[in-house]
Amino acid sequence: MNKITFHFEEKNKDSITIDCPKGETILELSLQHNLGLHHNCGGVCACSTCHIYVQQGMENLEELSDKEEDFIDRAISPKLNSRLACQCLLLKDNATVEVIIPNQSVLLGD
Ligand code: FES
Repeated sequence: MNKITFHFEEKNKDSITIDCPKGETILELSLQHNLGLHHNCGGVCACSTCHIYVQQGMENLEELSDKEEDFIDRAISPKLNSRLACQCLLLKDNATVEVIIPNQSVLLGD
């Protein structure tokens, strides 16, 4: 089982670690656990609202595509470790991944 830890930029939210199997995306996990991550296009790599920072374990995720990179460029405060959560498919079975969810209060929609 993989261990995915979510940290939050918002000060009043505590970090949470979730067990999950291979084949899930970080967005799917965040939805299952009501973590409040926006996903305006429904997870089809057509917006940038599911933007996250991957602090650890990038090698355990599906590789960044050119399309994803284009949308990351439109996100708020993109960094070298930026990804779109809907494109972060877990490829392994015993991986550890740590991500930061940016402040969602600056985004509109779901
Ligand atoms: S939900 Fe739109 S790109 Fe991930």
